[in-house]
Amino acid sequence: MIRNNVAELLSSKNYLQEVNLKGWVRTFRANRFIALNDGSTINNIQCVVDFEKTDESILKQVTTGAAISITGTLTESLGKGQSVEIQVSKIEVLGTSNPDEYPIQPKKHSFEFLRENAHLRIRTSTFSAVMRLRSALSFAVHKYFTENGFYNFHAPIITGSDAEGAGEMFQVSTLGLENTPLNEDGKVDYSKDFFGKETNLTVSGQLEAETYAMALGKVYTFGPTFRAENSNTTRHLAEFWMIEPEVAFNNLDDNMDLAEDFIKSVISYVVENYPDDLAFLDNRLTQEDKTKPAIERNDMSLIEKLKFVAENNFKRVSYTEAIDILRNCKPNKKKKFQYIINEWGADLQSEHERYLVEKHFKCPVILFDYPANIKAFYMRLNEDGKTVRAMDVLFPGIGEIVGGSQREERLDVLKQKISDLNIDEKELWWYLDTRKFGTAEHSGFGLGFERLVQFVTGMGNIRDVIPFPRTPQNADF
Ligand code: 4AD
Repeated sequence: MIRNNVAELLSSKNYLQEVNLKGWVRTFRANRFIALNDGSTINNIQCVVDFEKTDESILKQVTTGAAISITGTLTESLGKGQSVEIQVSKIEVLGTSNPDEYPIQPKKHSFEFLRENAHLRIRTSTFSAVMRLRSALSFAVHKYFTENGFYNFHAPIITGSDAEGAGEMFQVSTLGLENTPLNEDGKVDYSKDFFGKETNLTVSGQLEAETYAMALGKVYTFGPTFRAENSNTTRHLAEFWMIEPEVAFNNLDDNMDLAEDFIKSVISYVVENYPDDLAFLDNRLTQEDKTKPAIERNDMSLIEKLKFVAENNFKRVSYTEAIDILRNCKPNKKKKFQYIINEWGADLQSEHERYLVEKHFKCPVILFDYPANIKAFYMRLNEDGKTVRAMDVLFPGIGEIVGGSQREERLDVLKQKISDLNIDEKELWWYLDTRKFGTAEHSGFGLGFERLVQFVTGMGNIRDVIPFPRTPQNADF
């Protein structure tokens, strides 16, 4: 017999057909109504049992969390809350679940508790909705780039370079922490290590993507990225997924256009194709809002916010303009910011970014032309000699979601920058080659996938939008 799925049957009008479903019991009421979920949709299907005709020993095993197979007839439902239901003719218990031990009870659990049970939290409506949307967004990313002439490029995960120059890397070594071989200077002898040199997990696939853009024209990476920064915030992970397009012959304006069009496109995709999961999360947030003081409540519902972002232009503002706004704003003058903005050149903190987006402009903002000394070595120096062609996209509730730039394509300027920052030129010989052989203007950016998923699902903590989060002091599962 063909196995059906819940999503398909809930939208079917093919009544009286014989169907078979396999899934997990969400609830079993009055020895009669099983709410069954198989992951195909946020919605459960109601299966109506005739307990007089069903073996009691089987009914006893129909508990929350048990895996069962249901055979029956699809009928129009007379009850409230569903259009169809199944009149059950046969139940098979495939895997029991002891109700006294099963952690995911049909009640509200805290996200902290669910994080400790990350292997089971996917069985809740909230996490299944979030992870279905994560999967849909991932598809939308590949769809967008493929339809726009990009090639997917797999950047290496183990690398010898520090793309961001921030030194926040996880080392990769087979030397072990005890009896490490040392050289004559008493330093670790990496020539004895697996790769014969110092290596680490990548912090960004950008440098390698640049080499591919200089032949394939338009490429993008979408892969795991690792940062050993000790940031215990709701926006940072030690292992996250980053999407990095890189385009030959694009300048910074083209780069901003691409970032805006790309983000709007993937958001529109899920709004159009995943209404049920979004409606569930929208409702969750509305309920959560009601428990907050009025000042902290959202002005828009989740779906309104997504449509607003997809339909309105992002505001483009130079770093210099942003500093003027911040220097003169109320929270700065009243010393409400933790970091007071006094001078041009200050690095912007999340509180400043969020002020600009949430209070001042009230829409996504692209900040550009940052001071050279607070940005990475590869960004193109402007004619003023003090700013670089950098851009950050800032989102409401999230802060920075994208960081990117036009790259420094001039060999002499790039070499000078590398030397000023004491970066070993020899390590980047292959990167510098792209500036020697057919160099050209080019640009790209990195979008933190989990921050996008956070924005789309309205989840407050980044640990709740990736299946098994890795954060300082935590690598369970
Ligand atoms: O601004 P970042 O550091 O830029 C780069 O890595 C560039 N190489 C990208 C490029 O131009 N190809 O990081 C890009 C984005 C951030 O805007 C943020 O969304 C995300 O990556 N990100 C993190 N997400 C989760 N946890 C972390 N620890 C993150 N660090 C950065």
